[in-house]
This record gives sequence, C-alpha cells and structure tokens, in this order.
Amino acid sequence: MATPRGLWLIIIVLIFFYFPNTPQPPDGQREFDRTLDLETSALDLLNRTRYGDFNPRANHWLNITGLRQSDGLAWHMLDAVRKRAVEQMKYVLGPEGTRRALGGVREGFPAMYHNISGYVRGSWVRSKVGESLQPPPLNFSALPDRFAGSHFHRNITGDEGDVHLDFTLDRGSKPDETTLMHGLRGDLTISDQTSYGNGWEVKLYGGFFVNSGSILLTTTSERFAGIFSLPNFALSQTMFSAAKSSLNSTLREAVHQQRTGAIRFKNPWTSLPDGVQESAGVPPHCDMIVYLQQHPVQARLPNGAGSPLDASLVDQLEYELRYPEGHRVLPPPKLAISMLIFSPDCGFVLESKGPPDFGRREALHLVGSKIELYYEMSRRHVFAFACILAAQGLLMMTQMKHASTPSTRSRISMYTIALLSLGDGFVAFAFLFFGMISNELFPVLLTASFFAFLAVTIFDLRFLLDIWTVQVQERQRLDRQRAAQSADSRPAVQIPIITAAGADTLPLPVSMSQAISSGATPVTLPPDQDSPSDTTPTTPPTDAATTRHELSSVYGRFYLLLLTLIFLSLNASSWSPPLRSCYINTLSLAYLSIWWPQIARNTLRNCRKSLEWKFVAGQSVLRFAPFVYFYAVEGNVAWAKTDRRALVVLAAWLWVQVWVLLLQEVLGPRWLVPAAWVPPAYDYHPLLREDEEDSSMPIGFSGGASGGAVGGEASSGAEHAEHAEHDKHTRTFDCAICMQDIEVPVVPKGGGGEGGSSSGVSSGVGSFFLSRRAYMVTPCRHIFHTQCLEAAMRYRLQCPICRERLPPL
Ligand SMILES: *[C@@H]1O[C@H](CO)[C@@H](O)[C@H](O)[C@H]1NC(C)=O
Ligand SMILES: *[C@@H]1O[C@H](CO)[C@@H](O)[C@H](O)[C@H]1NC(C)=O
Ligand SMILES: *[C@@H]1O[C@H](CO)[C@@H](O)[C@H](O)[C@H]1NC(C)=O
Ligand SMILES: *[C@@H]1O[C@H](CO)[C@@H](O)[C@H](O)[C@H]1NC(C)=O
Ligand SMILES: *[C@@H]1O[C@H](CO)[C@@H](O)[C@H](O)[C@H]1NC(C)=O
Ligand SMILES: *[C@@H]1O[C@H](CO)[C@@H](O)[C@H](O)[C@H]1NC(C)=O
Repeated sequence: MATPRGLWLIIIVLIFFYFPNTPQPPDGQREFDRTLDLETSALDLLNRTRYGDFNPRANHWLNITGLRQSDGLAWHMLDAVRKRAVEQMKYVLGPEGTRRALGGVREGFPAMYHNISGYVRGSWVRSKVGESLQPPPLNFSALPDRFAGSHFHRNITGDEGDVHLDFTLDRGSKPDETTLMHGLRGDLTISDQTSYGNGWEVKLYGGFFVNSGSILLTTTSERFAGIFSLPNFALSQTMFSAAKSSLNSTLREAVHQQRTGAIRFKNPWTSLPDGVQESAGVPPHCDMIVYLQQHPVQARLPNGAGSPLDASLVDQLEYELRYPEGHRVLPPPKLAISMLIFSPDCGFVLESKGPPDFGRREALHLVGSKIELYYEMSRRHVFAFACILAAQGLLMMTQMKHASTPSTRSRISMYTIALLSLGDGFVAFAFLFFGMISNELFPVLLTASFFAFLAVTIFDLRFLLDIWTVQVQERQRLDRQRAAQSADSRPAVQIPIITAAGADTLPLPVSMSQAISSGATPVTLPPDQDSPSDTTPTTPPTDAATTRHELSSVYGRFYLLLLTLIFLSLNASSWSPPLRSCYINTLSLAYLSIWWPQIARNTLRNCRKSLEWKFVAGQSVLRFAPFVYFYAVEGNVAWAKTDRRALVVLAAWLWVQVWVLLLQEVLGPRWLVPAAWVPPAYDYHPLLREDEEDSSMPIGFSGGASGGAVGGEASSGAEHAEHAEHDKHTRTFDCAICMQDIEVPVVPKGGGGEGGSSSGVSSGVGSFFLSRRAYMVTPCRHIFHTQCLEAAMRYRLQCPICRERLPPL
C-alpha cells in the first residue's frame, strides 16, 4: 500500500516542522560583533552607573538603548510605578519590613520561601497609576527601519485577565554573600479578552532578593536593553547596588560566552518564547518591567485566616521538599505573590488583583506552590490516570473473553470499540507529548503513555479487528447470498412461500423450508447450501486478499484519524479561548458518544445483550472520570479552567446513552424507533397463535388437527405430543438443550376474531409481553428456553437440533 506509507512520511516531516525549537542560524557575523560592542559598552556603563544617575524627572538620561531621551519611552511614569511597588510591599511586609527591605537589612523578615522555583496564578487588573499618565508617542525614527509604523504585539489593552507566572532560579549563580540577590527567570503568560491561545508568553530575566522576597524582572529587546539597565529600576539604593554587583558578574560571564562562541544568539535574554530571536520577520513586542513581592509564608488555620510561621520551620520544610525523607513538619503552605507590570514603550501598568483594593474573597493576588509540590501532584494524578487505564484494560479483557465467539462478536458495534480505542490512543500521544516537554515528569508520563499504548495495541485494536473480521465475513456472506439470489431467477427463494400456511405448498427440501419462518427474516439461504462451511472453500483466494486489503485499510484509517485529531488539537492550543473551548467541548461530546453506535447496531440488528453491563457501566464511569477532573477541579494539572455547566451537559449526554441501552435490554432493541424505519429482522420471541400453528407454531406442537410435525422431525414430534395442552392458554414443549419442559402461552384459536387483533388479543399482549421473553423459537421452528438457546448461540449460530443456521441475536 503506497498511500499510507507516503502519508506516514508526510506526517513525520510535518512533525519535524511543527516544532521549530531548533535555534535559528546565527546572524551575520558583522551584526553579531556590533551587538557584542553594544553589550560591552552597556556593561561598562553599568559598572560606572550610580544610584540616581537615571532620573528622567531631573532630565538625567543614560546612553543605553531605551533609556535615552530620544527613544521617547514613557519614563515619566517610572516614579509613580515605583511608588506603587513600594505601596504593595508595605501592604505585604508592613512599614517596618519595608524599611528593612529597602534598607538592605538582612534579618528580621517574616518567614519566606528562599527557593522560589514554582508557579503562581491569578488575575490582573489595570492599575490606577497608568490612568492619569498618558504615554508619549513612540519615536519611531529612533527604532530600526523595519519597525516603522508597525503594530506592537503584546500591547495589552483589556481591562483585566489572567496571569500565570513560573519561576526558575538560575542554577549557576550563587546569591551574593552581602546582598543575597539570586538570578531568576520568570515565564509569564498573560492574557486578556483579545489575546490568542493561552495569552502572550513573555520570558523575563532579573533577580530575586532572597531575604525580603522582592523580585525584579525585565524583558530585553533590540529597543530596550532591559537586563543591562535593570538596577536603575530598583526601589532603593541598596537594592540598586545588589542588582548591580549581581548582574555585573552574570552579564560579564554571558557576554564572555558570546565572545567565545559558547552562546551563539544575539540576545540570550530574548523575551520571545522558545528563544526566538528578533529578526526581520518578527514584529515588535511591548517590553515589560515586573515588580513582584512574595508574601510571608502562612499556615492556613481552620477558620481560613493565616498564621505566621517560624522562619526555621519554613527552612526545614523547604529542605524536606527538596530532599524528601518522609517527615514533613506541616503541609506546605501556598506561595503567594503580588505583582506590578509596567511597560515603558506601550505605557500600560497592570497589577495583580487582591487586597487591599479587592476583597479577600474575590482574589488573593497570585497564588501557587513550589515546583516540587506541582510535580508531586502531577505524579499522583498521572498515576491515578494510569490506574484508570489499567481498569479499562481489565474491563476490555473480560469483555473480550465474554465475546469470544463469532456470534457474540457480531453483536458488538465496531464503532463503539473504535471510539474507545481512539480515546486511548489520544491519551497515549498526549502523555508522550507532555512527557517530552517536562523533564521532571518524563518517567511517570512515559509510563502512563506506555500503559495507554498497551491498551490500544493489545486490547483495543485486537478486539476491534476480531469484531471487524467477524462482521466482514458476515457482510461478505450476505453479499454472496444477494448475488446468488439475483442470479437465480427461480422463484424458489421467495420468502412468501414459507409464510403461506401449510407445508404442502412447499416445493423445497425440508432443510430449506426450515430456514425461514414468520416472513420477517432477511436472511435467506441458497437452495444448494446445506451447511455454511461449504461456501468457504469455493472462493478462498479473493476472500483472503480482500480481507487483508480491508484489514490494512482499517488500521490505516484508525491511525490517520488519530493523527489528524492530534494535529488538530496541537493546532487548537493556539486558537482564541472561545474557539478553543468550543473545540474541546465538541471533541469531548464526540468522544463521550461511545454508546450511540452500539444502540444503533442493536436497533438495526434487533439484538440485545451485546455488551456486558459491567463493561458499559465501568467504561462509562472510567471514561468520564478525567472529564470530571479537568472540568470541575480547580488547580488541575493542566491549568484548565473549570466549566461545570459543560460538565453537566456531558454527563447528561452519557447518562442518556446508558439509559437507552438499558431500556433496549428491557423493552426490546427497537423501542426507540418505529418499526417501519428499520429493516425487518427475525423475531425470536413470536407471539404464538393457535390458528397459525402450521406456519409459525414450533415443531412438536400437537394441539391441532394439522398434519402434525413436519418431515424428519416426526419422531421427536410424537414424543412431544404427550406434553401438549394442559389448558387452553399454555402449551408445554421440551427444551432439547436442558431437557426440561417449557410452558408457553398461546393465543387461543379464534381469540383474535375477524379483525386479527381485536380486544381479546391486545389485552392479552401485555401479559404475553414478558412471558414471551422466556422462550425462543428458531426460524426452523424449534423452541427452547431463552437462557439455553442464548448460551448455545454464544458458541455457534446453529440450531442445536437440526443444525440450521440461525440469524444472530
Ligand atoms: C568598574 O568600576 C570600578 C570603579 O567603580 C573600576 O575600578 C573598574 O576598573 C571598572 N571595571 C571595568 C571592567 O570597567
Ligand atoms: C552613546 O554610546 C555610543 C556607543 O556606545 C557612542 O557612540 C555615543 O557617542 C554615545 N553618546 C553619547 C551622547 O555619549
Ligand atoms: C527621535 O529619534 C531621533 C533619532 O534618534 C532623534 O534625532 C530625534 O530627536 C528623536 N525625536 C524626539 C522627539 O525625541
Ligand atoms: C530550587 O529548587 C529547585 C526544585 O527543587 C531545584 O531544582 C533548584 O536547584 C533549587 N535552586 C537552588 C538555588 O537551590
Ligand atoms: C564588575 O566586574 C568586573 C570584573 O569582574 C570588576 O572589575 C568590577 O569591579 C565589577 N564592578 C562592580 C561595580 O562590582
Ligand atoms: C497600544 O494600544 C493602545 C490602545 O489601543 C494604543 O493607543 C497604543 O498606541 C498602542 N501602543 C503601541 C506601541 O502600539
């Protein structure tokens, strides 16, 4: 098959193109050298700068990109922004703590986390600071030509939105002994109503003042040498010096690495995600300076209030989190942070939502936890998911065992199983994908992915193919029969002959006459067919070839659909939030339609008991559990926003399906649709009427004056005759399987009157309805207990007495 292989190739190539993480080739050497010169002069300037040298109010400017007067950035707002940052600090640390923090005192702070690697989430609002001060128009002639008149990205214009901030402490840098500033990277994701995907991703670099919990971060771009001028934005003289000496060493190291070629990027501090460098094709992005203040670590009391903790206790806790030994002194409290974002070029000021401007109940600034706790939670939840997968596999296995025969397999809808398999395949790929982008969680995600792959390949696909094989053989047989029928113009195969009363009109051999009963069955056997097995050798090569061909096409279609889904979903992660949630909800609804195909198959084929109840209930619960997690649990692993209304809709959708299945079991598979809509199917539970005894009464019925039993069954018929007719309304037969009696209610002769279904019968129908389910009459007119025949039909679709083929249940 050339097409699928070609497709695979295209898909693999696509995968490579889809992740453009490879660093861009180094720019022209000349430009690189120019950048290095600029950086070196910026470093020298940094070395020379003193606190207060950059003071736009007093018209003191610095000769560095972005901080020149001619650049026209909104520096007149800087003082107000700094004032606001100090206000936030005062609210968190109190006046005394603020004095210490600004004065560079090293002791006397409330307990803080000293390793801030972790994440926080929350909402932002537009700050009052920005409202009164309008940014000046940008001086585009000071910018590189390609920016002329272009539209700035990341220009946040909404009034509020969500923010998500990840911290990573620099691995290499040691906090300076005297100042305790630690290098820090922040990954900010900020969104408002207008942003696409999750929002704008911003990479920020800066420092973390370990003792006071203050953080200063900035972007760096061609238009703004943020990291080189960071100390100028500090809140006090001591913070300025700390930032300066810390950056002096780290920046010098980085520039040295650039010079020696260890770092080949023009801007290692780029704010664009995935380390994308600014170049001709990249539009300008608004720059940002971010002030953050960690809140004291507080134990949460039962009444919801916080109580301050001892600093040594928090140190102990951090150590235990980092190097777990199994004795946690207390459940780790949350990491909480206030935020203030200032964009010097786009002129917006945003701050985190929380007290004192907003009520405690409304928002609490940015809240999260240390990264170790996130990993711990993720590991636990992924493990739980793996358990769900294992349980699904177990259910699938028992169902496979239960449906181990062709007749049971043919009842199960292929599409139901295919949908379940698609879900597992999707999960496998999703786990693999997230495992690839997270080092810490790689082992556990890989294990879960492996579980899901096992579920797909060993159970799901295997079962799917089993079912498909049976059903395709069935289809082929039907096709052959239809072909034979149309080729054979003799009227012998016409069904009406059988329904007409009286065996005397039958010109056919006995075996044929038995094949058909009440005229409803679409299955007709060609006259020359004695046993179903003899058709197989007549056309083996074509059959095998087509089967193989179709088999590979089933595989191909399955994987193609799976990959399409995966690519679409990857793509969807960058759509706008309403579109994305619409996509996710649609996908969820489609996935949770697992039972509809089975309901349809039951209806079409008039069969019940296709799937075990254990399987239906178990799979419904297990497949729904992850939806509950992502739609209803706040702070889930994926940061998915909860949406309980959608969850209720999904639950109702699944619930309805299970109920329809259940009612099909009780009321008959076709209660849902009018009889005219579906092809006729053989009814194993016919209402027995005395006046139709010749045509539809089971063989062995010996109540009437008819010619007795038909053909070769005469001897057994004589036996049965002894049990006949206790009273007018029930007859007794023998079940040839369990050798016990069957009491069968019979509509008495003449009960129907002229109309055929007058009041007498229709009132009887209700009581007959359930008792009908106790016996089964085969098309060859043998009667058995329902349990007995159903058990027998699980193994072979053959009448146990005359070996006639039976239509599937
Ligand atoms: C940095 O400034 C100090 C004085 O402030 C000076 O002694 C030193 O040489 C300067 N270093 C460089 C590399 O310019
Ligand atoms: C600013 O710095 C650049 C290069 O670092 C230098 O060429 C220029 O003369 C300086 N301008 C002023 C006004 O000092
Ligand atoms: C804009 O920038 C150019 C080039 O740097 C400078 O000559 C001009 O004075 C600036 N305009 C303003 C209004 O600052
Ligand atoms: C902070 O914690 C993280 C996560 O445990 C760890 O990887 C990192 O090395 C720690 N950093 C420092 C400076 O201790
Ligand atoms: C910055 O680092 C250089 C080289 O390590 C050193 O000579 C200089 O004194 C440092 N400057 C400051 C202000 O620490
Ligand atoms: C940012 O958006 C505001 C409001 O739409 C606009 O006035 C301003 O010019 C934009 N800034 C930039 C740099 O594009």
